Amino acid sequence: MASVSVDEAMRRAIELAARGLGTTSPNPVVGCVLLDADGEVVGEGFHAYAGGPHAEIVALAQAGRRAKGGTAVVTLEPCDHTGRTGPCSTALVQAGVARVVIAVPDPNPVASGGAATLRSAGVRVDLGVRGDEAEAGNVAWLTSMRRGWPYVIWKYAATVDGRSAAADGTSMWITSEAARIDVHALRGTVDAVVAGVGTVLADDPRLTARNLRDGSLAIRQPLRVVVDSSGRTPSDAQVRDGAARTWIATAAEVGTGPDGRVDLPALLAELHRRGVRAVLLEGGPRLAGAFLAAGLVDKIVGYVAPRLLGAGPTALVDAGVTTIAEAIDLEFVDVTQIGPDLRITALPRKREG
Ligand SMILES: NC(=O)c1ccc[n+]([C@@H]2O[C@H](COP(=O)([O-])OP(=O)(O)OC[C@H]3O[C@@H](n4cnc5c(N)ncnc54)[C@H](OP(=O)(O)O)[C@@H]3O)[C@@H](O)[C@H]2O)c1
Repeated sequence: MASVSVDEAMRRAIELAARGLGTTSPNPVVGCVLLDADGEVVGEGFHAYAGGPHAEIVALAQAGRRAKGGTAVVTLEPCDHTGRTGPCSTALVQAGVARVVIAVPDPNPVASGGAATLRSAGVRVDLGVRGDEAEAGNVAWLTSMRRGWPYVIWKYAATVDGRSAAADGTSMWITSEAARIDVHALRGTVDAVVAGVGTVLADDPRLTARNLRDGSLAIRQPLRVVVDSSGRTPSDAQVRDGAARTWIATAAEVGTGPDGRVDLPALLAELHRRGVRAVLLEGGPRLAGAFLAAGLVDKIVGYVAPRLLGAGPTALVDAGVTTIAEAIDLEFVDVTQIGPDLRITALPRKREG
């Protein structure tokens, strides 16, 4: 087999890492490619699920003795601690790897230090190869580890004129089946789905990740969270159906914010403590407005249907904007057609001051 460059190997490692998206939490996604001393690929691995072998260990097992004198190319700094598995830094040293190339340093104080351990054992360590790309592939985990609360994606569906229901309240369905299938795939990549009690009372959603064609449940279900200050979620609500774990987050349990409702930063801190790294905020408009007003949304995914309603509730209510100068500015990062609808992905711009 022909030799490959470290840069090419890192591109492959980033691809491998992405295979773990949605199943590794509370761990990161990680990919690893092992090159032998001649630069030939002798092992590949990715972290598939929490508690399972780390990417480096999978790649080392494939490489066997050919790892000696070789290069490990890995998307995240190898861990240096014994958790459910042993330290990868030690495993790489024991296998006789001569060089480790890392895309992104590990911000987790519990697991970091792998680079230092490798260097002190005489292994050459290079940091930052394709760092931005690897960072983007692991953005939810890295963001949540750095600041101590989960990465929040607000998802909504609306008509071109921004309506989420008609004047009589009917809303099923605004968008196409193709868009809804895409939403279920998105649910499968996060650790928790969050909705306000208003949505639960109005729509009685299940909030599970499902195959929409046959109704079967995805193997891994996100935690369902209802933000419900005073515990108004009905006892027979579908979110309580036992198909997935559910947390009715009340103000009594989480804490009360300045408006007397559930304290949203405290809610996110508690979710982080429970191992949630990525949250899909599914509305409704009032809860989404409160998250946006508090600057707690990291990414927006809007499904926009080619329809007009002209009246009826909007997808967003009161996000703390009263004049045009206060508008929440966004940067569009992707626009993709899904069936007849558009999926618009945008990032809120950081506000000054
Ligand atoms: N188009 C879409 O993408 C989409 C998505 C979801 C829902 N919807 C529609 O939205 C409608 C419901 O809207 P909604 O605005 O009444 O419901 P909502 O945003 O789901 O829930 C709002 C409720 O959440 C509770 N809450 C708890 N803590 C809060 C906080 N810190 N800030 C804000 N709210 C907090 C409040 O009730 P308590 O004070 O009692 O806690 C509040 O009334 C439904 O008709 C549904 O169909 C549309």
